[in-house]
Amino acid sequence: MPLHVLDHPLASHIITHLRDRTTKPATFRTLTYQISLLLAIEATADIETEDKPIETPLERVTGRVLAHQPIVVVAILRAGLGMVQPFLDIFPDVSVGYLGLERDHTTAVARSYYSKLPPLEGRHVFLVDPMLATGGSAAKALRAVKEHGAVDPTLVCIVSAPEGVAEVEKHHSGTTIHTATLDRALNANKYILPGLGDFGDRLYGT
Ligand code: PRP
Ligand code: URA
Repeated sequence: MPLHVLDHPLASHIITHLRDRTTKPATFRTLTYQISLLLAIEATADIETEDKPIETPLERVTGRVLAHQPIVVVAILRAGLGMVQPFLDIFPDVSVGYLGLERDHTTAVARSYYSKLPPLEGRHVFLVDPMLATGGSAAKALRAVKEHGAVDPTLVCIVSAPEGVAEVEKHHSGTTIHTATLDRALNANKYILPGLGDFGDRLYGT
């Protein structure tokens, strides 16, 4: 499975501050924006470009611009919302979809409660969710976007556990995953170790 882990000093710096239990929600949101921007750049490194002849103030040159192939970002609610803005900021043609998934507090099994997806056929689909723990939410979300027409969607996460990566590979073999860090394991309550706690709670101060 193509698993890409961010390798940049800035990524390590941001992750460490996200992990820190004393980091307050306002700073946590800024750090989420920053790490998601790095991930958005990394995850889109091979999207198509095309020639564009232009004139600089000095001469003609043929440059490269993004080919017209709209990007769709699908956020897994609620924590995935924190990762959407960087995609909106750097790509001119982007539409946004939402999938509401919530883990049960005792079983850790994700339940679907909302879906609002734009057309996905023929588009680059990036599924964003900061935490890949058991992989149950990601596997359900990948199935939902594929049923809606996505081909080869990319999963973009901030913290991943080996168990979650394996679960995605089991149900959606060959899925490309971009993550800022690959952590050690899950604890008995299916939280990632060392992790950063409940991402949604820390993002929204709940
Ligand atoms: C978190 C996280 C993922 C999910 C990961 O969401 O944002 O969606 O858990 O866990 P999994 O890999 O074991 O499925 P949560 O269900 O807590 O909902 P929230 O974003 O609304 O807080
Ligand atoms: N969801 C979170 O927000 N954190 C974890 O560690 C696992 C699932």
